[in-house]
Amino acid sequence: MSITPKALLSLFVLVGLVLVVGGAAVAANYHSGADLHCSDCHVMHGSYNGTTYNGGSGFDNLLKGSATSLCLVCHDGTDATAPDVIASGTAASPNDTLSVAYASPWKSSGGYFQSDATTVVNNAAHDLYATSALTATHGTWTSGSSGIVCTDCHGPHGTTNYRNLLLQPGTASADINVTESADVYIDSTQTGTLAGKYNHATIGYNAPNDVKEWCLGCHTNTASDTASPWAKHPQDVEVSTLDDSGSHWDTGTGAGFGDSTVGGGSSGIPRIRFAESGTTFAEVTTDGTTNEVFCLTCHKPHGSKYDSTLLWPHYTDGNVDQTSGCDQCHNKGA
Ligand code: HEC
Ligand code: HEC
Ligand code: HEC
Ligand code: HEC
Ligand code: HEC
Ligand code: HEC
Repeated sequence: MSITPKALLSLFVLVGLVLVVGGAAVAANYHSGADLHCSDCHVMHGSYNGTTYNGGSGFDNLLKGSATSLCLVCHDGTDATAPDVIASGTAASPNDTLSVAYASPWKSSGGYFQSDATTVVNNAAHDLYATSALTATHGTWTSGSSGIVCTDCHGPHGTTNYRNLLLQPGTASADINVTESADVYIDSTQTGTLAGKYNHATIGYNAPNDVKEWCLGCHTNTASDTASPWAKHPQDVEVSTLDDSGSHWDTGTGAGFGDSTVGGGSSGIPRIRFAESGTTFAEVTTDGTTNEVFCLTCHKPHGSKYDSTLLWPHYTDGNVDQTSGCDQCHNKGA
């Protein structure tokens, strides 16, 4: 086939267009598209170069491990290239010590399980308790016989959602899109290292976003009423509806607000997470009276070091920060 100069020119124009469009596109998640490496998780005959899996018998689906243990080969902190989702504490004594040095006092955006996560039930995290089936609190979804597994929330071969979150978690029967650069924005100046791109402070949430719907896929009955009077805490509601029109939250000083530590030092914590309407990371993380309260204002998706996966020690009597999170919006502190 001979290529005419004209055809060549249009080819260059086409390539140029693809590059421009490609340049504006969002980087695909790892474990998807070009970053889906079969050999991360699969082995064809139960062995590779002297390493055997399940004593050479292999695991179902040709996997290198079963369920959660497969993912934790890399995500337990021992692989410096993969985000660590396991803190060094235990269910009885949870901590937030991870192998990655996150700058935020709340560490990784997703939060963390504890080192005994697969053997013990933990009130501060989702239970990867591999011994029995679990039913979602305020829901009907029940896990498989080995507790909650990573793939109950994440698609192992990638999805179009942020962090490869499943499109239909739990009992959801329609796709729930939590899409990067629509529902959630990552600070593009922080993409180089794990400590940068998975940091709590690097992730911002648009309002509206579908995180609530996503969590409701399992926790159906945590949905609040749609207007006051409330019988369950409102979600996706602006702080402008508070008695003081959100002015205490907006000012960001006084009850609830304070030093850079959480649970230690003096009373008060840095501003907790909110959702805000916008189309850039800077816009969705701008504080003001139009900020909205949503599930991740109070909870970490994986877990935290505090009861009920909360960001602050809400159930630790006597702790200087016991009421800090609620006070940032409700200003009930003395
Ligand atoms: C062979 C090692 C390895 C295994 C096994 C592994 N991962 Fe990963 N995972 C990685 C690496 C490396 C990254 C990318 C880190 C980065 O962003 O540079 C990653 C990233 C991720 C991300 C973030 C994706 C993004 O770009 O937002 C999720 C979610 C994830 N892994 C879930 C899982 C789950 C669930 C399993 C088990 C089904 C699993 N991983 C198994 C190495 C692994
Ligand atoms: C991050 C880990 C991970 C990676 C990487 C991965 N897989 Fe999988 N794969 C799984 C898991 C876990 C299952 C079990 C089914 C499930 O949980 O969805 C599975 C199941 C499968 C299945 C059987 C079920 C189905 O969905 O058809 C096939 C086929 C498969 N994988 C092919 C691949 C190929 C081909 C690649 C590379 C292009 C790949 N996988 C990369 C984790 C992975
Ligand atoms: C109950 C649902 C759920 C389960 C179970 C779960 N994840 Fe996640 N995970 C999430 C959500 C939601 C995010 C995104 C959080 C954010 O950035 O706000 C996330 C984020 C991540 C990230 C990005 C790094 C971070 O900390 O933000 C990785 C890697 C990851 N998960 C891996 C895993 C692995 C491995 C497992 C199993 C050991 C697992 N997840 C179990 C919901 C879950
Ligand atoms: C795939 C189903 C599933 C999804 C999706 C899910 N959860 Fe859960 N969650 C469960 C199950 C099952 C339990 C009960 C067992 C346990 O405590 O881990 C639970 C328990 C909890 C608890 C109580 C934890 C404790 O130990 O007291 C909180 C808080 C929670 N989930 C918050 C969330 C939030 C917030 C989201 C969305 C980011 C979410 N969940 C998404 C299945 C799910
Ligand atoms: C304003 C903060 C806040 C928001 C927003 C919030 N929660 Fe909670 N959640 C809590 C607190 C605090 C607890 C502990 C129980 C209590 O004291 O009310 C809790 C407990 C839970 C529990 C465990 C209940 C039990 O019986 O132990 C689940 C499940 C849960 N939340 C899911 C969600 C989901 C899903 C969303 C979003 C749809 C959400 N929460 C939004 C503060 C919040
Ligand atoms: C990010 C802001 C924010 C945080 C944090 C927050 N709330 Fe709220 N809360 C709201 C908003 C907004 C409303 C709705 C106000 C309205 O409609 O009058 C609300 C409503 C309420 C109501 C019902 C009030 C009424 O007038 O019906 C109670 C009670 C409540 N919150 C308690 C709490 C507790 C306890 C905590 C801590 C676990 C908490 N809130 C954390 C923003 C927040």
